Amino acid sequence: MKHILVLGSEGFIGRHVVTAAIQQGHHVYGVDIADKMPAAYNYEKLSLLSADIDLFLSAHPFDIIINCAGSGNVGFSVQHPLTDFDLNTRSVVFILEAVRKHQPAATYVHVSSAAVYGNPHTLPVTETAQLQPVSPYGYHKWMSEMVCREYAALYGLRSAIARPFSVYGPGLQKQLLWDLFQKASRQQEIVLWGTGEETRDFIFVEDAANALLRMGTLETGTSTVYNLAYGQPVTVRHAAGLLMESLGWNRTIHFNGEVKEGDPRFWQADISAIRAIGFEPSVSLVEGFKLTAAWLLSLKESQ
Ligand SMILES: NC(=O)c1ccc[n+]([C@@H]2O[C@H](COP(=O)([O-])OP(=O)(O)OC[C@H]3O[C@@H](n4cnc5c(N)ncnc54)[C@H](O)[C@@H]3O)[C@@H](O)[C@H]2O)c1
Repeated sequence: MKHILVLGSEGFIGRHVVTAAIQQGHHVYGVDIADKMPAAYNYEKLSLLSADIDLFLSAHPFDIIINCAGSGNVGFSVQHPLTDFDLNTRSVVFILEAVRKHQPAATYVHVSSAAVYGNPHTLPVTETAQLQPVSPYGYHKWMSEMVCREYAALYGLRSAIARPFSVYGPGLQKQLLWDLFQKASRQQEIVLWGTGEETRDFIFVEDAANALLRMGTLETGTSTVYNLAYGQPVTVRHAAGLLMESLGWNRTIHFNGEVKEGDPRFWQADISAIRAIGFEPSVSLVEGFKLTAAWLLSLKESQ
């Protein structure tokens, strides 16, 4: 049993990490700026961009700190680069400075993003690929990884960095599947961005949560980077069709042919690094889309 702190515990990925950690028998503490729902774990409402995180870590010892906070919205980062920098980079300095002062023996698991790769030249993309972000979000995640490296190299902090590709599942109220569901709830004919031939590498959120927990239990590691994905490319057209099928809805889907600013075109991850530490994604795309569709339909029924 480990003492695990989940930062951003009330967000999409954070909630699933909390659930998985409790299921694995760990003692969990959550931190977020959101108001907490009743749940079976300790919780502190505070901002990571304040001195509160220093005070908090001075009082509560942890074995593992998993940072699922921040902003995960490319479009928002294009419109508000400074806010995105605060949420995705500056907050990491606040956290690691407090870890350095109060919890230097803890393992810090950082959730970065595949957005650091930009439009990769070679697929599947490995962790050693050249980083060429195409959005402020991608640059800020890259800088956040540099902060982890800085604290590992200069202060010996143990950290592991995850680069999730497209995480999906119950609770995600943004991105492709959510937008598609919203449109399909209202219209028979749907128009999506792009050509439909763009590819994504989806990973079910429970798999992503288990991978982050696995990374937290590594005894070694100085900012080692791991792609988090299923390892199989899927076209946006196929994903859209599969969601409609999983929902049991018959809709006509068109693509507008326009590239959305900041969106990479083709993605497929090499996941041999995370496999090498004993993690294997277990939820197939078909199964994961069924679970997601069931959740989306339950939301619609409760409205
Ligand atoms: N969802 C994906 O597909 C995906 C893919 C790659 C990377 N990521 C990254 O994973 C992380 C989590 O993503 P998500 O989809 O769960 O996002 P989310 O928005 O659902 O969750 C983020 C959480 O962080 C909290 N938060 C924001 N600012 C805070 C602050 N100042 N102090 C404390 N808490 C704060 C929010 O209240 C929220 O609960 C983000 O860093 C995102 O960039 C997500």
